[in-house]
Amino acid sequence: MPTKTLPEIPTGGQLPEFGTIVDIGGTGCMPAITKELLLHEPAGRRILSVVTLSDYPGLKLWSKLTHSPTYYQTSDEILLLQNYASEICDFVVAGSVIVDIGSGGLRKVMPLLDELEAREMTVYYFALDLCKEWLDDDLKKLTSRYTHLRCFGLWGSFTDGLEWIKQFTGPKVFLSLGSTLCNNIIPVASKGLKLWADAMAPGDVMLLGYDSNLNEEKVRKSYEAPDGEFDGFIRHGMEHSNMLLQREWYKPEDWELFREAEFQVEPPALVHRFVFRAQNDVKDEVLGIDFKKGERIICYESFKYPAEVLKQQFDLAGLHQKATWRSPASDIREFLLVRD
Ligand SMILES: C[S@@+](CC[C@H](N)C(=O)[O-])C[C@H]1O[C@@H](n2cnc3c(N)ncnc32)[C@H](O)[C@@H]1O
Repeated sequence: MPTKTLPEIPTGGQLPEFGTIVDIGGTGCMPAITKELLLHEPAGRRILSVVTLSDYPGLKLWSKLTHSPTYYQTSDEILLLQNYASEICDFVVAGSVIVDIGSGGLRKVMPLLDELEAREMTVYYFALDLCKEWLDDDLKKLTSRYTHLRCFGLWGSFTDGLEWIKQFTGPKVFLSLGSTLCNNIIPVASKGLKLWADAMAPGDVMLLGYDSNLNEEKVRKSYEAPDGEFDGFIRHGMEHSNMLLQREWYKPEDWELFREAEFQVEPPALVHRFVFRAQNDVKDEVLGIDFKKGERIICYESFKYPAEVLKQQFDLAGLHQKATWRSPASDIREFLLVRD
């Protein structure tokens, strides 16, 4: 258990009123990210960004999917956090600012927050997400539940969150649950992780949850909710992109949607993705969209990297593991990371 004595209130930063949602950028980034990934073929691929799934209807659909019996990613990580909340919270010092990077739902983080509350520790929890209505719903639940824990929302992108956190010189805890960081091709993933690592001072910690399940059947099944609900969620991203790009470029009949899973050799990983395939040529001259029949757009790609590949990512970001916990249910782990 850390022995450092730290102030009860973070130094050098302005705390908002308890329970408020701070607009640090709102949804301003969403059209640009959608355009960049869809139109510019980063690393030779066209991608429907997850930001298109991060509006209120999208997150509602996603939240429902996390309750599917085969969607182990949420239930197995919750089990881990319930089992080891006490050990994990030993690494959090009083007065810490906790930033939950892409907070989404609160089911996962709740065991940690409950444990901190039970210790009567004053800590400052900031849920960072792109969806204001979702943050609103979540904060109502939190502020009525806790008295020691001070809860806030940060409405904006990861980039906005990184800028915002610079004002705090006190102790910080970054939470990346649900494979939020590290889930990408390695150059992109390690760049993203390094940005957060660079925002950490000595003594700060990051709790990073990651799904390393390599059982293809288990993974495939987890993305097959009853009644085609997963397809509805993914198609919602395309529909939302029409709004973000202010053009009706996407028409459902032009695109077949399917899933694929493959074992990648270098670096080793099981990769699962949803793929849209053009059924005919799709053009939008204003946006500069020109898909030929058969061309693909990747969406909701999941890289299940084994622990040794994650370690390489941590090394590249200048982070090292101080502790690790494994879910009793499957190969989902939490890594407690500090700066070298
Ligand atoms: C898959 S959910 C994970 C939620 C939660 N951490 C968990 O493990 O269950 C990812 C969340 O990150 C948010 N998100 C994705 N990209 C983001 C970005 N660039 N900036 C801010 N939030 C983002 C989404 O809105 C969504 O709520």
